[in-house]
Amino acid sequence: MSDTSTIEAAYANVGALILAAGKGTRMYSDAPKVLQTLLEKPMLAYVYDALAPILGKHVWTVIGHQAEAIRKAFPQNEGSFIVQEEQRGTGHALQVAWPTLLDSKLEYVLVINGDTPLVHTETLRAFLRDSRDKKADLAFMTLTLADPGAFGRVVREKEAVKAVIEAKDYDRDVFGVETGEVNAGIYCIKLSSVSGLLQNLHSSNKSAEIYITDLVGLAVEQKLKVIGYNGGNDLRLMGINSPVELVRAEEFMRQEIVEKHLAEGVIIRSPHTVRIGPDVSIGKGADITGPCEIYGSSTIAGGVRIASYCRIEACTVGRGTEIRSFSHLNSSRVGESCIVGPYGRLRTGCVLEDEARIGNFVEMKKTTLGKGAKANHLSYLGDADIGANTNIGAGTITCNLNTRREKHKTKIGEGAFIGSNSCLVAPVVIGDFSLVAAGSVITKDVPEQHMGLTRGPLRILKRK
Ligand code: UD1
Ligand code: MG
Repeated sequence: MSDTSTIEAAYANVGALILAAGKGTRMYSDAPKVLQTLLEKPMLAYVYDALAPILGKHVWTVIGHQAEAIRKAFPQNEGSFIVQEEQRGTGHALQVAWPTLLDSKLEYVLVINGDTPLVHTETLRAFLRDSRDKKADLAFMTLTLADPGAFGRVVREKEAVKAVIEAKDYDRDVFGVETGEVNAGIYCIKLSSVSGLLQNLHSSNKSAEIYITDLVGLAVEQKLKVIGYNGGNDLRLMGINSPVELVRAEEFMRQEIVEKHLAEGVIIRSPHTVRIGPDVSIGKGADITGPCEIYGSSTIAGGVRIASYCRIEACTVGRGTEIRSFSHLNSSRVGESCIVGPYGRLRTGCVLEDEARIGNFVEMKKTTLGKGAKANHLSYLGDADIGANTNIGAGTITCNLNTRREKHKTKIGEGAFIGSNSCLVAPVVIGDFSLVAAGSVITKDVPEQHMGLTRGPLRILKRK
């Protein structure tokens, strides 16, 4: 049996449930908390990624607050969302999902808070393996913090877990001084064992919410096997509830990623000012100067130089290319030995073939610049296809939008020369090796090897 099929077989009877319906009040943001980003990637996407290698097939997500925004962000997961109309607490979220979990005929469910984006697949794998090997009815992960903050406190008697008590409800006179051990919000639940306890969850607590954490005390009372796995002070297990926690986690991850690339042979200057997303790949010998941001599934080849103040998202950049300062590149492909910038802007859907070049204040959108072609200064090139070795003069504009708000294409052949300050009113075709005279407004096609000229005659008059 191959590795993957062994893993699949080992977790075939386990599903995952992500709790992501909450309001995230402490984040003070209009956006749903699980869509808050770390290095431009939403928290929830990290949780999906951590689960994918082990439980990819059976992952449900409880959504509620701003459910539409979450559906829209993850259209590929449509069909696996469970809606909690009213957000009455984490225990209520589990109650709402329970019929779906039972229908699945799975034996175990890993329940995980959607605000725990740093967790590693390996941690979850080891937790699941241990929970099942030890035949736990209910297991959960804990961590030990110097300050337990707003996290649920784990109460033990000797080694044995007795309960999890939420911070607001914790009474030192009853439970003693906190040990610092808190609940991480990751649970492995044996469905058949816990089913009977679900209706006993209640909301008589300071938040008037139904807590999933009360299952721990209830299971202990029923003499079920309950295990709390202590993950030490692993910051990766910490839930994110506030701006402070969000940027702290992001900074932790940023440093880790930058250090990984440095160790693998990427030159990163002023590394503390460089932000690289977790899905970016960079070849050895690339040379990056901060401050600089690279996000999404960008691929930067070895030997690429990226100067300071650039932002690159979801782009491929080929060997030997230079991205000069203050350039913004989005969802585009830049070939080998190109030059972009300074102040270059590639909006979505651009292609720069090898050795192409765009310079200061050139904006491109859905445009291909052929091999060796150049647009060195002050241009807007939108919805255009530009052939190899063509030169686009300063101030050239492709007028791609008409008054009916329809977009049209401009096609320019190879070896053409577009004189400065020309307007190419689309749809329009400029043939191979043609010339457009400076200052022209071109509204009709110019055939190959011809010149388009719309300049009015120059008059020189005596000053009065
Ligand atoms: C929760 C735990 C706490 C633990 C901490 C770990 C409870 C009652 N407390 O607290 O013991 O230390 O996580 O990070 O569970 N959610 C819903 N529906 C709701 C309410 C919340 O789906 O009605 C989701 C949220 O979107 C979030 C997750 O559940 O992703 C946890 O909710 P949150 O409010 O962050 O709980 P904490 O106060 O952090
Ligand atoms: Mg939380």
